[in-house]
Amino acid sequence: MGKHGLSERTIAIQNDQRDVAYTTSSDDAVRHIDDAIASWAGIRRDAGDHLELALRADPDFLMGHVVSACFMKLFAVRELDERISAAITAAKKSALERGATQRERDHISALGAWHGDDWQGALELWERILLEHPLDLLALKLLNRTYFYLGDARNIRDSIARVLYAWNENTPGHGFVLGMYAFGLEECGDYANAEAVGHHAVSINPADVWAIHAVTHVLEMQGRHREGTEWLKASEKIWTNSSNFANHLWWHGALLLMDLERYHAVLDGYDNRIRAEETDDYLDIVNATSLLWRLEETGVDVGSRWIELADKAEAHAGDHQLAFADAHYMMALAADGRLDTAQEMIESMSSHAAASQGMAATIYGEIGAPLCAAILAYSCGDFDRVVDLLQPLRYDLRYLGGSVAQQDIFHRLLISAAVRAGRLDIARSLMSERSADRPTSIWNWRTYARVLATLDDEAGAVAAWRKARDLVAGLTL
Ligand SMILES: [Fe+2]
Repeated sequence: MGKHGLSERTIAIQNDQRDVAYTTSSDDAVRHIDDAIASWAGIRRDAGDHLELALRADPDFLMGHVVSACFMKLFAVRELDERISAAITAAKKSALERGATQRERDHISALGAWHGDDWQGALELWERILLEHPLDLLALKLLNRTYFYLGDARNIRDSIARVLYAWNENTPGHGFVLGMYAFGLEECGDYANAEAVGHHAVSINPADVWAIHAVTHVLEMQGRHREGTEWLKASEKIWTNSSNFANHLWWHGALLLMDLERYHAVLDGYDNRIRAEETDDYLDIVNATSLLWRLEETGVDVGSRWIELADKAEAHAGDHQLAFADAHYMMALAADGRLDTAQEMIESMSSHAAASQGMAATIYGEIGAPLCAAILAYSCGDFDRVVDLLQPLRYDLRYLGGSVAQQDIFHRLLISAAVRAGRLDIARSLMSERSADRPTSIWNWRTYARVLATLDDEAGAVAAWRKARDLVAGLTL
């Protein structure tokens, strides 16, 4: 075994711009794979094009096949399973015929674990890679993203913090690392540092859409509506040219409008931006269902918009790749009245949990399936059942993944159900908690005021209305 842990049959080693080693004779393949990873990190559209060039330069490129499988896994749909398995097989064949570094072997193993729903196994392997190769941007992004989908905020932040020692302003891709760190800080509630690091990342690379997004989250969480709108507007030319992630930033913009009760503008954004293209990408469906549900909960007529979302959700109801996505598929099915399909999906989630082990079993069986049952119960008007299911579960919902901002929909579901079930003591306690946690949320104060008014707490209701009114006035000065 040589310097890189290679076997005798190694044909060559090429390093990328951060001196991370790849088994290939083609420096073009390494350059293109580096570009593909950077494109993914920057949420650009051309990651697949660069990957294709890498594999064209070296059709047996081990890390080309690994990245290919990773990119397909990111779509989180079962229909790609066979192609993912084929890419893993191609990577293993390359390792067998050419030899491979330990890092490359670990990447293949991590990918296999991920593909087998063994998230813990995948995390441990990516962590191990980074101990020796802290500049492996692929491992870092995959690790960080997986913590995101396991709702592990501390590790979203600290997976990046653990490698910061190896990165500096001269390291290519440094801004991407800061952008991920900013988002992790935000998810941990450290908004001041998140904003500062996010701005630093954007100053290094103004086209870093993930860093733009991290700052957007800070502005959303702090209820800084005007700044949030201006921030998105100022960077719009950049992020509208990103991948379909642009739809997610339009969604963030819509959340700011929702709090201001500008529902016509929200619907306009829904039709002409967020859902202008009726894709079946899970994040697009998450954005859309989350927004439609909020609009309906507020009393806005959303017309027939659920139908196409429910069609897409039905097609993916058995995928069970991300419980967070499943919960949104359930919202679409339930809202469109597809109750039999929704019930079958809950049973399918329970079966998936029973057939799984470790985190997948817990997340699907103990959190995902009960949450989906609550979503279905809400649509059927059984609000007591929603409260009974979600009240004891609410602190565990984060393990479904997604950001704090995205997760908020599940907490609003509980509050809305508590109000409709007439369980106002619970609603009051939840609104008291939320108002303390996010005192600049206009929705919080308005909802709190309605709950207090229903409880005949006139003084409390007036005080809450004044808070909401003052926040609105502060925006229109
Ligand atoms: Fe977001």
